[in-house]
Amino acid sequence: MHTYVQDVHRHVGEEVTIKGWLYNKTNKGKLRFLLVRDGTGTIQSVVFKKAVSPEAFEAADSATQESSIAVTGVVRQDDRAPGGFELDASDCRIIQLADEYPITPKEHGTAFLMENRHLWLRSSKQHAILRIRHEIIRAVRDFFDDNGFVLVDTPILTPAACEGTTTLFEIDYFGERSFLSQSGQLYNEATCMSVGKTYCFGPTFRAEKSKTRRHLMEFWMVEPEVAWAELDDVMVLAENFVSFIVQRVLERRQEELKVLERDTSGLERVIPPFPRISYAEAFDILEKHGTETPRGADFGGTDETVISSQFDRPVMVHRYPKDVKAFYMEPDPEDAELALCVDMLAPEGYGEIIGGSQRIHDHDLLLRRIKEHDLPVEAFKWYLDLRKYGSVPHGGFGMGIERVVSWICKLDHVRETIPFPRMLYRMYP
Ligand code: 4AD
Ligand code: MG
Repeated sequence: MHTYVQDVHRHVGEEVTIKGWLYNKTNKGKLRFLLVRDGTGTIQSVVFKKAVSPEAFEAADSATQESSIAVTGVVRQDDRAPGGFELDASDCRIIQLADEYPITPKEHGTAFLMENRHLWLRSSKQHAILRIRHEIIRAVRDFFDDNGFVLVDTPILTPAACEGTTTLFEIDYFGERSFLSQSGQLYNEATCMSVGKTYCFGPTFRAEKSKTRRHLMEFWMVEPEVAWAELDDVMVLAENFVSFIVQRVLERRQEELKVLERDTSGLERVIPPFPRISYAEAFDILEKHGTETPRGADFGGTDETVISSQFDRPVMVHRYPKDVKAFYMEPDPEDAELALCVDMLAPEGYGEIIGGSQRIHDHDLLLRRIKEHDLPVEAFKWYLDLRKYGSVPHGGFGMGIERVVSWICKLDHVRETIPFPRMLYRMYP
């Protein structure tokens, strides 16, 4: 009977068939130890020459790394075995004998691994990352679904820019200019006026012309938007959300975190309330550490690292100067030069994982900002309409999944957080 490795504990003493790929093999006299992985786990099968047919032994003997194989045998509990179980093989079949596998246990360079990303995904570390990414996405959906948010999908092809015009991917839309979406936010603002609390979750695109360990050209962003929400509400939502995700991963993905050798003590502290500081306070910290960034400018990656390293959990920096932020942000009633916005910076040097704000809900102010930012008013007509028909204060944020995966898994680079990264000068595979 075909059984998945994760289920063998229910079949001790029974004969099962494991279908998978050969991860590793050791030979010892008349014994072949096959380490087989099937996506749900790995198990060692012991193939004893005298216990199987000559063909089966030949198969076990000749199987190469990553050959697809089916091993039949009786499940034996063995506390010394990784995973606690072994298979005493009675049969072994090769489905496809793998060519010499390019990825071996020795260290490979990043360029080589990226070139072989389609195969690299099978290694234990990448496998653990894929599983944690999935868990994070599941937690994202559970959080919003269980808190009264309605998932409303926003378009990928859009006629207007949301996050500035410098990072747009342009598409010829039957002779008309259109762009790959940088964010679903503007559409969320329309749909939250229908359903109250909404979120969208999909791929977003930014032609980022710089190489950093935090930027991808294509990344997945989840964006909640709430009618009647002000900046404080957005911050409370953001901290509860991030805490929920981290605690969920700790609860369900201990094994994968172990594979990644992630010290989880920092993650265990990710419980609200998170510290909140203003841009001005953040800048005081930077000045003490001797930044080159002039006061009033946006933070660089190093600045974010310095700020976030002052805190033992994510920190929320609010009220940046409006000039370094997007056109749609509500001005601070106390100081119109500041925007009612918030960035959440992850600890351990990871920097911005969330960007959000309260949105301008006054029609004339929004129109003025669109013009100040040289955006085509025509393309924003529908967006301005939202301020004509029952406008209310509202706000939300966007969280990049890959940045969060990178932090939770403590990776050096965002390229390992997404199955097939799209980066500057890399589209293959
Ligand atoms: O701060 P950003 O640009 O905010 C927005 O797009 C808003 N419209 C969201 C909203 O309020 N609904 O991007 C939000 C998040 C960042 O904090 C970061 O996590 C991620 O998206 N992000 C990227 N992740 C990977 N690669 C990139 N090039 C990214 N750009 C942004
Ligand atoms: Mg941002």
